[in-house]
Amino acid sequence: MVLIDPWGSVLVRDYEDVIKAFGLETFNPKLFPKPNRLMRRGVIFAGRDLQPIANAIKKKEKFYALTGIMPSAEKIHFGNKMVVEMMNYFQEHGAKTYVLVADLEAAATRGVSIEEARKSALNFHIPAWIALGLDPKKTTFYLQSENKDVVHLAYNFAKKITLNEFKAIYGSADPGRIMGALTQAGDILYPQLKQAIPGVIPVGIDQDPHIRLTRDIASRTKSSYGFVAPSATFNKFTPSLDGELKMSKSKPASCIELPEDPKIVCKKLKNALTGGRDSVDEQKKLGGQPEKCMIFELYKQHLIEDDKELQKIYDNCKSGRLLCGEDKQHACELMTKFMEKFEKELAKARKKVKGIKFVKFK
Ligand code: TRP
Repeated sequence: MVLIDPWGSVLVRDYEDVIKAFGLETFNPKLFPKPNRLMRRGVIFAGRDLQPIANAIKKKEKFYALTGIMPSAEKIHFGNKMVVEMMNYFQEHGAKTYVLVADLEAAATRGVSIEEARKSALNFHIPAWIALGLDPKKTTFYLQSENKDVVHLAYNFAKKITLNEFKAIYGSADPGRIMGALTQAGDILYPQLKQAIPGVIPVGIDQDPHIRLTRDIASRTKSSYGFVAPSATFNKFTPSLDGELKMSKSKPASCIELPEDPKIVCKKLKNALTGGRDSVDEQKKLGGQPEKCMIFELYKQHLIEDDKELQKIYDNCKSGRLLCGEDKQHACELMTKFMEKFEKELAKARKKVKGIKFVKFK
């Protein structure tokens, strides 16, 4: 059985299997106006209930996009970057946007105090998100620990689910995680307390259990709250440079963090798994295999915006004209540019962040 667990590091070998096993919709970029790079290239590969979101965009009706920041380590990763890019997309297409700091969850599951969580969100995470393009002026920020409505929702939701159901969704259950998951369901539905409207939660595929739980809860509380079940987009993982399916800090030589010193990153890129052949001669004769190459995957997911430019690299690799050494040098240049820009924007955003106000709750 394919088990997806938001706290583990389960690898997804075949995204098609996941779609079938969990009854997801295959993502169709044609539903949406001006799909972004991730949507066009199948990095967003699945969704739940995306038609209402597409309709709201088309008819300019109200909908929201929401996500949470996990304020643990002062680094983010490519998975976070994809979520921010999806938030930006929906923000630009009319969504009311909510970004919360999951300080309660961080305290319950990661041993980060509420005070530390708040500090690291303000000093690093929120600026990092702004550096990646989120517009703070159009975003509502709140801290879970200060949002009484969310906490009350979580308590009410606790009555709607049994331990066995929780285990069936998550594969395991411990009290901290149960609290975290119910609080997250509270976050996801909180924007609808004023008015029930569709909402979309962009997540990595490992977060699907939270989406399923929240959709169940929305339907079980229909008579009291009348929430619309939340929609979701799912992104694939950015693979580890050694070819494993998910980049992870547990293997630092194959993991790129944001920010990270470009010199170190370039060294890691040099050792990345490619689809290169055993010898130069062979590669010139047979061509490379971009579909097996982690460098190409980085281009596709993150480093190259222009589809034609990406296609050209693909063709040049396939035909044996482009060799891996040269290609890695190119990736190093693009990555260096990306990191330098990110650091610069981060410094700018840190200044802006002083003006950010978390929602105040009485
Ligand atoms: N659990 C998420 C994480 O580990 C953080 C989170 C809290 C969240 N509430 C949310 C994500 C609501 C999406 C929607 O990163």
